[in-house]
Amino acid sequence: MADTILSVDGLSKSFGALRVAEDISFSVKEGEILGIIGPNGAGKTTIFALLAGNLPMDSGQIVFQGQNISVAPAFERARLGMSRTYQVPKPFSHMSVFDNLKVAALFGGGLEEVETEGWIGQVMDLTGMTAARNILAGRLPLLLRKRHELARALATRPSILLVDEVAAGLTDLEVDEFINLIKEIQLSGITVIWIEHVMKTMLTATDRLMALAGGRVIAMGKPQEVITTDEVRRVYLGA
Ligand SMILES: Nc1ncnc2c1ncn2[C@@H]1O[C@H](COP(=O)(O)OP(=O)(O)O)[C@@H](O)[C@H]1O
Ligand SMILES: [Mg+2]
Repeated sequence: MADTILSVDGLSKSFGALRVAEDISFSVKEGEILGIIGPNGAGKTTIFALLAGNLPMDSGQIVFQGQNISVAPAFERARLGMSRTYQVPKPFSHMSVFDNLKVAALFGGGLEEVETEGWIGQVMDLTGMTAARNILAGRLPLLLRKRHELARALATRPSILLVDEVAAGLTDLEVDEFINLIKEIQLSGITVIWIEHVMKTMLTATDRLMALAGGRVIAMGKPQEVITTDEVRRVYLGA
């Protein structure tokens, strides 16, 4: 059985009176893809922000690769191998695709200058960005913008990748492309947590699924089983 790479215990966060994460506990095994589903406002993105250190939690504990990172600043978590994408990508739009990846590798990942060229070449190959390497990030069309966001997160050489809704607004074919890409990322040895609304991605790509509603975990387990639980059906279908 694979080792646990990330373990989250009793994670809680409120914004004023609004509880956006309530006693959330889960663990992720090395090499797996854990999917997270839940209606808008369920607290999915907040969990990423708490994991990556973009937001301080109110209480709880996060252990990553055996290290308690609960109060570690974001840059330190990135250096340790945790990387996330953003629902609304904010690359340096006046810089090329390549230069954006270089900044991520050097400053996010702490790679040495001499390693970057070769490494970024691999990342661009994997994400299908090689032909776009000299394009200014701000000029990329939607699909490439999304692949670039994934590439920027990968450039930091993470051991765990947090992917926040890349499939929204894509065609069926493009969604399939992302499913394959995330699976290839998994094959390359990276653990993935993937938030997505497009159910096909969650049912075909994930090893386990966690369903959230109102800042709480309402179901966790095999994808097919999770989406057919009464609680999840109630939240999604109002049944
Ligand atoms: N910085 C913030 N300040 C106040 N409320 C916030 C903040 N960020 C998110 N929220 C609220 O927290 C809830 C959960 O948001 P979010 O984690 O983005 O949900 P999801 O990603 O599941 O759609 C929402 O009600 C949202 O409006
Ligand atoms: Mg979100």
